[in-house]
Amino acid sequence: MIIAIDGPAASGKGTLARLIARHLGFHHLDTGLLYRAVARRLRSEGLRLDDRHAGVAIARSLDEASLLDPALRDAAAGEDASVVARIPEVRQALLEYQRDFARRQPGAVLDGRDIGTVICPNAEVKIFVTAASEERAARRFRELVARGEDVDFSEIHEQIRMRDRRDADRASAPLRAADDALLLDTTGLDIESAFRAALDLINRKTGLCGCA
Ligand code: CDP
Repeated sequence: MIIAIDGPAASGKGTLARLIARHLGFHHLDTGLLYRAVARRLRSEGLRLDDRHAGVAIARSLDEASLLDPALRDAAAGEDASVVARIPEVRQALLEYQRDFARRQPGAVLDGRDIGTVICPNAEVKIFVTAASEERAARRFRELVARGEDVDFSEIHEQIRMRDRRDADRASAPLRAADDALLLDTTGLDIESAFRAALDLINRKTGLCGCA
């Protein structure tokens, strides 16, 4: 069973995906980490983010250990990731890793931007998570402050808006809800309420979470 969770930056999709996977005993892959890891390796090797050849080679070499570096969660890594993510060859090089992961038993939850549309178009459940950009900026601000980063709220808000545009307007696998995705707007919902709402959607589709 595959559960695809897509949505824009700081929509809460990662937290939801993690909680859902834990609840169901499924594996979880935060696919944003793959793009973050490619971007970080390019930077650390002094290469340009738009170096296709190197980007593809790095993408092909990634494994689970490459995704554990806490620095991948930095705001700068997210910005860099969205630049690397525009390169179709890099996306292609990351495709098999994601599809292999999705086949794990007893099931897998993948979160990202194109899981329901490109990576796993046959996923049994697709949820597209949204929230107002002010609220997403506030969440990201709190998250980064808690990590000890020195950040400015209006800058974070502007970055979120720019990243939304970059992700939605790119030619290769742009951010959009699959036609058969269930929409979950988490504006005004805390994590627990958003989690309950997501379980409810999954249950309606599969009967899996009847016990929730
Ligand atoms: O947590 P947040 O939503 O800020 O970022 P993320 O999910 O780690 O993704 C970082 C960037 O990677 C996004 O802005 C996208 O450009 C890109 N990405 C993508 O293109 N496709 C995915 N499946 C996941 C991330």
